[in-house]
Amino acid sequence: MFPTLRGRVTATYFVVVIVSLLLASAFCLLFLTRYIRNSDREDLRKQVGAVAQDIGQVVKATERLFSQEDGTSAGPDVAPSAVPLIDEQEAAANLVTNFLNTESQVLQVKLAVVSPDGQVVAESEGRPSFGADTLQLPPDIFSERGARITERFFQRLGRNYVFATAPTTITTGGSGFLLAIKPVEQVRHFAGTLILYVVVAGLIALAISMGLAFYLSSAISRPVRAVTEAARAMAAGDYSQEVEVKGSDETAELARDFNLMASRVRTAYDLQRNFVGNVSHELRTPLTSIEGFSQALLDGVSTSPEERKRSLEIINHESKRLVRVLRDLLLLSQIDAGEVKPEKKKVDLVDFMRNLANLYTTRAQDAGVVLNVDLPGSLEVNTDPDRLERVMTNLLENAIKYTGAGGSVKLRAQAPDDSVRIDISDTGPGIPEDQLERIFDRFHRVEQSRAQKHGGSGLGLSISKELVETLGGTIEVASTVGQGSTFTVVLPVDGG
Ligand SMILES: Nc1ncnc2c1ncn2[C@@H]1O[C@H](COP(=O)(O)OP(=O)(O)OP(=O)(O)O)[C@@H](O)[C@H]1O
Ligand SMILES: [Mg+2]
Repeated sequence: MFPTLRGRVTATYFVVVIVSLLLASAFCLLFLTRYIRNSDREDLRKQVGAVAQDIGQVVKATERLFSQEDGTSAGPDVAPSAVPLIDEQEAAANLVTNFLNTESQVLQVKLAVVSPDGQVVAESEGRPSFGADTLQLPPDIFSERGARITERFFQRLGRNYVFATAPTTITTGGSGFLLAIKPVEQVRHFAGTLILYVVVAGLIALAISMGLAFYLSSAISRPVRAVTEAARAMAAGDYSQEVEVKGSDETAELARDFNLMASRVRTAYDLQRNFVGNVSHELRTPLTSIEGFSQALLDGVSTSPEERKRSLEIINHESKRLVRVLRDLLLLSQIDAGEVKPEKKKVDLVDFMRNLANLYTTRAQDAGVVLNVDLPGSLEVNTDPDRLERVMTNLLENAIKYTGAGGSVKLRAQAPDDSVRIDISDTGPGIPEDQLERIFDRFHRVEQSRAQKHGGSGLGLSISKELVETLGGTIEVASTVGQGSTFTVVLPVDGG
């Protein structure tokens, strides 16, 4: 329904705001209307009680006045009138009606005095007008004990009213009730106004939250879109992608990680390109020699048996070099594919190193290099002897090859802590400091001329490093130009 992140965030905000507004206004309305209705009614009940008492006073005062005028209880100074000027009962009723009118205006309710049988004795002006009717009022709205408030459907007027009643005196000795009525709609009107306010406030809140939702969703979706576009461009082959990193939130983290990934992809791509270039170069050089010398043989250019022998030796030498390079490349690709699984077993390292040294003694002598060995009494290690032999061979061959006549190479093994440490030190030309980091890279050679002289292809150390890592160990180099180099292999005794 909402395919974009921005659409979903905005819609969620919209729903959350509407639902919370509806809930909040419903509870607010319920509470306020109840509160106001109850306090309103309690006020009315008290006021009706007070007015009922006042009516009693008015009735009593009126009757006292008339009885004085009649001379029934008048003092000696008052002259009794022979004929009353107005009907006494009517005058008393008028007084009560006037009193009701005044109170009705103050309280804003309709007031009436009714006899216990529901007969209207007096009423305030204003609607509804009862006249001389007998009000068909439910009896439970009256209580002799005091003021009472109820809400009822008033049959006569056809709608709901709030009835407030209180016992009062209607004549001396005659009791009745004061009745106040108020339509319920007054409360409803208040609720309508409240709803209007809530709707207006809700619309303002909605507008603000929609703005915020839009801002928030843009803040999230903009960097996500930038990363998506950069990822698409990378998938299409443009590896130069880098997205802007702003702030430190999750989207910034995503952008930073994307840039990291992009730079690794670039490095891997460059490595792969260089690798292919290097491989082609490594294969082309011996193949060119093989092609050239074999062609010369075929064309009969090499006439003397010595020349022919020399050509065949070169072809043989270059073929061997090709085979070696291809074998190394195959091993590297197997390591990359995770196909090289070490087969570990207990190896007597002292024996192992001594055999290795014996194998290389003649080669070292031929090269004019002295080979020294420094081994402990015994040293056992759990490792793959074939892989370790390949590593040691690479390092020993390098040491003898690059040190040259007059130098020396030392083979040393020791066991500090839970590891074995094998050092191969030489007194050769050393490796410049700026090259030490790249020495283990594939095809990296310190000096083209030095390597060419020795016919190396620059794969030996990279293979050694990968193999040592598959054995759970590390390989490091320390070197000083003009003084020599030390290659150190550290392996776990228990095989890791
Ligand atoms: N003991 C050393 N002393 C001085 N330079 C060294 C030594 N060992 C390695 N190097 C330098 O490091 C480079 C990389 O060595 P690596 O063994 O990887 O390749 P290589 O010997 O040239 O060829 P390969 O071993 O594949 O036949 C060498 O070309 C050489 O320049
Ligand atoms: Mg080598």
